[in-house]
Amino acid sequence: MALTGLFLILFLVVHCYVNAMIFWNDGGEKFTEAAHFMGTNVVIRITEIGLFAFLILHIVQGLKLWAKNRSGRSVRYEVSAGNATSKWYSRSMGILGTLILLFLVIHISAFWAPNRASQTMGNGELDLYGMMRDTFQNPIIVVIYLFGCISLAWHLVHGFYSAFQTLGLATNRYKGMIKAVGVGFSIIVPIIFALMPIAFFFHWIG
Ligand code: HEM
Repeated sequence: MALTGLFLILFLVVHCYVNAMIFWNDGGEKFTEAAHFMGTNVVIRITEIGLFAFLILHIVQGLKLWAKNRSGRSVRYEVSAGNATSKWYSRSMGILGTLILLFLVIHISAFWAPNRASQTMGNGELDLYGMMRDTFQNPIIVVIYLFGCISLAWHLVHGFYSAFQTLGLATNRYKGMIKAVGVGFSIIVPIIFALMPIAFFFHWIG
């Protein structure tokens, strides 16, 4: 889970960086240039297959871990220790992950799937910038995106640190630093993502 999780975190950095080009407010020129590179470069396209494979692996591993934790005790705890021994978001990784998965199904069918379908049929790339501008005029979609970003933030708060801990890197010396960087990352990246639908909706960018 740690390795696939860290790869997905790396993807988020690249995805966030490329998408943040929309904030240049240049009618999508810089974003379209970057999206064109990402959508046509052979190395990136091969990495994309790895991305989906890792995403599925991460989900399968998560489900297995969840099942193992449940079957660890044949009798359920009568009283939950609550926040005394663990945080709610670390106990809710499965639910948060499922919310992210639901968001991803909506998200991928809105942008990635039609774009790749158009490329495959030889009709070239779609105008992703224009599609985002149109899609984010719908307040319901904007709210779904905001929930997706909030779920992502909580999932990352636990997942980021947990990945380093699993790999044995959260030693006493680096523990504090990893925790701080993890929390910072888990707040900043989802906020940048969340600002994208918000900015289109309120016509801060056009
Ligand atoms: C909230 C702001 C976001 C916007 C505006 C956005 C926009 C986009 C667009 C336009 C594409 C299509 C790219 C293409 O066809 O080449 C895409 C693909 C994708 N997005 Fe997002 N995205 C956002 C957030 C996220 C988040 C939070 C995640 C993950 C949790 C995510 C995961 C993906 C994945 C897996 C793909 C398909 C793979 C790929 O294009 O490489 N996105 N996104």
